[in-house]
Amino acid sequence: MKEENDFKMIAKTIFGLEEILAQELQRLGAKDVEEHNRAVSFSGDKGFMYKANLSLRTALRILVPFHTFTVTDEKSFYEGMQSINWEDYMDVGDTLAIDTVLSSDLFTHSQYLSQKAKDAIVDQFRAKHGERPSVDLDKPTLRINLHVYNDTCTVALDSSGESLHKRGYRDKTNLAPINEVLAAGLVLLTGWDKRTNFIDPMCGSGTILIEAALIANNIPPGYFREDYGFERWKKYLPFDEELWNLIFDSAVNKITDHKQVILGGEISPNVAKKAKENIKLAKVDDVVSVKICDMKDFEVPPGRGVVVINPPYGERMDKDNIGELYKMMGDTFKKNFSGYDCWILSSNMDAFKNVGLRPSRKIALFNGPLECRFMKFEMYQGTKKTHKLEEGYQKKKRQD
Ligand SMILES: C[S@@+](CC[C@H](N)C(=O)[O-])C[C@H]1O[C@@H](n2cnc3c(N)ncnc32)[C@H](O)[C@@H]1O
Repeated sequence: MKEENDFKMIAKTIFGLEEILAQELQRLGAKDVEEHNRAVSFSGDKGFMYKANLSLRTALRILVPFHTFTVTDEKSFYEGMQSINWEDYMDVGDTLAIDTVLSSDLFTHSQYLSQKAKDAIVDQFRAKHGERPSVDLDKPTLRINLHVYNDTCTVALDSSGESLHKRGYRDKTNLAPINEVLAAGLVLLTGWDKRTNFIDPMCGSGTILIEAALIANNIPPGYFREDYGFERWKKYLPFDEELWNLIFDSAVNKITDHKQVILGGEISPNVAKKAKENIKLAKVDDVVSVKICDMKDFEVPPGRGVVVINPPYGERMDKDNIGELYKMMGDTFKKNFSGYDCWILSSNMDAFKNVGLRPSRKIALFNGPLECRFMKFEMYQGTKKTHKLEEGYQKKKRQD
């Protein structure tokens, strides 16, 4: 039930992760959870807003919408922005930044609208005080998010500040690693039970392995992060340091110390070195290890488990080589990974055909601007028939 101090929030995410994010929110105790395109809305109080920022693995940012108005043109937009009493949210000496997302034919440039919105706010302060707040794109007191959808403008405060995929565990790298939010989403989508083996045999800088280790041991994704937007709020939902410390400590107390087998492989020694550094920075080197090796020679621990691969998509490779690589993945699954659920994320639909196995699931996801499929290939121990028999036997045993 909605409490008096509850308010609406919107968690933004990557296309394809809405359902996983909604499940995360339900588990965390959110109310009124509703899925949208690249977002999930929910309600909760200030403490829940802190919790959401700290603990949601598949959210990019948490917005707090507080005002909507109708827009028909630039003038009504400026007036709508001026109809808000900005002194309820910030002081003249504070700083601001504005992000605009446009889903409307009324305007063409989001940056231009951000500029206009800033003018409306600073003009209001200047008229009252003869002074104006300044802009700080990096760490403003208030990061304002505008969403113009057809003729409706929703004004929200961005409680996260920098995008939540910036976990704070990764060293600067010149590689192109997968977004941490996407990596966590992939691990959650596989339904990995956190106890069986987890392998990424093309681990690059180690993002998927690190996110798997954080998930397995309940380590909040924001554990290493040093900055959130809400920490600078003074007037609306002012920062409550005591409450934040309470939320943080309670999440840290839930960290477990299980010893899973989380393994990575990487063909390039330089990249593998980077992965090892990142794994150390994320303090999960007690559960994650990385070997320099070609996937086809990867020593697979016996038993069951989950494999997640984000292979090269082939933008920089010729067609034959990329076909060979995907064929090698399929052949290696068959030869060495029996008992494993093997998943591949790729945007290269032609290359997928070379895997030579029938996927049992296909999930549409975006990796940056690239539309991808996340495909599951189940490698049964023995034949499919014996697997089915074994499953039936296990089920019966549980019932007995
Ligand atoms: C797209 S990147 C993975 C990025 C990774 N998910 C991250 O977050 O950094 C693909 C990686 O596969 C590695 N790779 C390519 N062929 C391989 C092979 N045959 N065996 C093992 N690794 C391979 C590449 O060196 C590259 O680092």
